[in-house]
Amino acid sequence: MELSGKRIVLGVTGGIAAYKAAELVRLLGKQGAEVQVAMTEGATHFVTATTFQALSGRPVYLDQWDARMPNAMAHIDLSRSADLILVAPASADFLARVVHGLADDLLATMVLARDCPLLVAPAMNRQMWENPATQRNIAQLQADGVQILGPACGEQACGEVGAGRMLEAEEIVEEAIAFFAPKVLTGKKVLITAGPTFEAIDPVRGITNLSSGRMGYAVARAARQAGAQVTLISGPVGLAAPQGVDRVNVRSALDMHAEVMVRAAAADVFIGVAAVADYRVANAADHKLKKDTGGIPPIELVENPDILAEVAAMAGGPFCVGFAAESRNLEEYAQSKRRKKNIPLIAGNLIQDGFGGDDNRLVLFDEAGVHPLTPAPKSVLARQLIEHIAHLTGSH
Ligand code: PMT
Repeated sequence: MELSGKRIVLGVTGGIAAYKAAELVRLLGKQGAEVQVAMTEGATHFVTATTFQALSGRPVYLDQWDARMPNAMAHIDLSRSADLILVAPASADFLARVVHGLADDLLATMVLARDCPLLVAPAMNRQMWENPATQRNIAQLQADGVQILGPACGEQACGEVGAGRMLEAEEIVEEAIAFFAPKVLTGKKVLITAGPTFEAIDPVRGITNLSSGRMGYAVARAARQAGAQVTLISGPVGLAAPQGVDRVNVRSALDMHAEVMVRAAAADVFIGVAAVADYRVANAADHKLKKDTGGIPPIELVENPDILAEVAAMAGGPFCVGFAAESRNLEEYAQSKRRKKNIPLIAGNLIQDGFGGDDNRLVLFDEAGVHPLTPAPKSVLARQLIEHIAHLTGSH
């Protein structure tokens, strides 16, 4: 639960994306946030207050004349008790009203009276978004310290295609989590590999392994939440790119090597989470191997470059972190890999704990010794790893 104890006022304004706000309330609650919904009158034309009350477990505020607060000052009381005001969807009209400091309904008054940060997720037709008036308003909001989430590009409810779609509820939750995460890697460039590699035998067959990419994606997400600029070089996995992370898809170890090497010199930190194939097929066939051509086809293997060792050997290169998955003797094998590859930190896990699944058991090995982490979801371990890296690199 990454938002445990956080009090979030969710403002919902009038737009078809208001239906996504219902899912947003559910997901924020699932992460442990206390969500108080406040709606504009326009929003009630799209979704009812009853929906939000049922999902948040709290009565919804709609009206600045609401008499429920004993002092009749809902706009003050609600914003004072919040850690964050999040407006999703934020209509073009609402954003314009915030820019001008209007206080003509409860939500706008609350936003004006706030002493906590404001995040807005715009949602509108693409022409409304591109209109110079909206763009001026967005620039002004940014200058005023408001964080703008999105919008996304794509097909819109009106049938047009372009920028202006509200981010998906999952993406907004990620942004909220990122907002609260300690910014221990602000300004750092972090390059990460994740997932398996696929070494072709012929156009449809190959050698790969059981890495799901979950550990590497969790590390990428945690690094981004810690304020880093993150590039994720990913082998073939079925995961969505974490919000705000620049993902480069690769297939083979050679592809991964090439993509890492063009970026490594500019990186501050390199984290090799990928399960890279040690060998590739030297005699991969251009056409599908046929069974009836007589005999079992011989497969010749040739060694792949060791990406991590190469990056670690770069003069003035990034701070390098490796991973080691072992079936036994974790400490001995992980430490020996750390020394052989000449890296300051390696995270060891047993194969049965690390591959696939959402949880893991990690042990960190560095010059200072052995640091076992409590078994936990990969997302939690990834944050602890990032904090350890920030500590070792003196970033915080
Ligand atoms: O993806 P998941 O299902 O979540 O699983 C996560 C994981 C188990 C794959 C991950 O936690 C992990 O342990 N990754 C490293 C796997 C491993 O044992 O790699 P290795 O021993 O082959 O390599 C050691 C280190 O060198 C790794 O950092 C690896 O990325 C790197 N390496 C290895 C070979 C190579 N040719 N180039 C490399 O960069």
